[in-house]
Amino acid sequence: ETKPRTPVIWVNGLECTCCSESFIRGAHPLAKDVVLSMISLDYQHVLMAAAGHAAEAALEESIEKYKGNYILAVEGNPPLNEDGMFCISAGKPFVEKLRHVAKDAKAVISWGACASYGCVQAAAPNPTQATPVHKVITDKPIIKVPGCPPIAEVMTSVITYMLTFDRLPELDRQGRPAMFYGQRIHDKCYRRAHFDAGQFVESWDDDNARKGYCLYKMGCKGPTTYNACSTIGFNEGVSFPIQSGHGCIGCSEDGFWDQGSFYNRV
Ligand code: SF4
Ligand code: SF4
Ligand code: F3S
Repeated sequence: ETKPRTPVIWVNGLECTCCSESFIRGAHPLAKDVVLSMISLDYQHVLMAAAGHAAEAALEESIEKYKGNYILAVEGNPPLNEDGMFCISAGKPFVEKLRHVAKDAKAVISWGACASYGCVQAAAPNPTQATPVHKVITDKPIIKVPGCPPIAEVMTSVITYMLTFDRLPELDRQGRPAMFYGQRIHDKCYRRAHFDAGQFVESWDDDNARKGYCLYKMGCKGPTTYNACSTIGFNEGVSFPIQSGHGCIGCSEDGFWDQGSFYNRV
């Protein structure tokens, strides 16, 4: 309570804005507490009142004032083809904005599959050359928080950890916070007993689906996906993809969009 609030600058490249949507639903801690009491969210397209020139002026003011001390949060990624012209932000290619804002950042958070890995806009043949943030910004500590979108509480908790301890949380080999990406969906899935018993859904809406059997034969990627969905869930733990009847598509794993996750049976 006695420390000045840490400035956070949040920029958006090629994305769908559902990382922002997820973040504002954070319940533990509440996103409003993060935004109003813990950080100074100096630039964020979805939440800020300013727009246009006023917003860009606020961005420049914050960069100048907090050089070396702000956290940069990136939602989406920069497309590099055609000199970055496939994503324009404030009249310039987003890749230019990203490099400019990252230059004086203390650390970078890559929100979601887009910023961490590329996501569907990087699907083969990737005509825009959508490129994950860590391949463009190579001289800053980067924490990847993948998922499409990431779980709201994972997002708010990552920020809370960084503010509380003034360091990045422990990361795994891929640069993800180990405390949230250390286990597979399959390890804690409530349908796991059916997997172990050999009880599988064989086709959509069959009797086994109504009984809540395992979705492995319907293509569930839970056994190879590291994320906290089966423990934390979405919307204050109300549900997650498997609980709503569809297998995990591995949305927090690199390359999931090109690896047969969509409606393929094993
Ligand atoms: Fe949207 Fe997914 Fe990209 Fe987040 S990671 S901006 S949810 S497409
Ligand atoms: Fe594993 Fe998926 Fe079956 Fe759950 S539904 S037990 S994650 S294969
Ligand atoms: Fe994504 Fe699988 Fe979780 S599809 S939201 S990692 S259950």
